Amino acid sequence: MAELIVIDREGVEHSITATTGWSVMEIVREADLPIEAACGGCCACATCHVYVSGDWLSRLPEVGKDESNMLDEAFQVQDNSRLSCQIKFTEELDGLTVTLAPEF
Ligand code: FES
Repeated sequence: MAELIVIDREGVEHSITATTGWSVMEIVREADLPIEAACGGCCACATCHVYVSGDWLSRLPEVGKDESNMLDEAFQVQDNSRLSCQIKFTEELDGLTVTLAPEF
């Protein structure tokens, strides 16, 4: 079983047994953690914004054009920002750690 680690906005770490093939956003939402994901994963809202921890960023698929455009409109974007609906969770991502970005 692969695990996704999510740090919430209070700094609390949650270990979630993750379903491979789902997006990171879907896994976070299914775990009842507070992620708005207003567009449902269509890469049209940026409310699934997360910060990717450590060297995980370089192990993720590259940011696509749509994701890059949406991140341009997001708040408090950092070098390690990603839209979690655009990250498909695979066995290779076992232990991936993300922090929920602030809500606006
Ligand atoms: Fe809307 Fe990810 S859920 S961009």
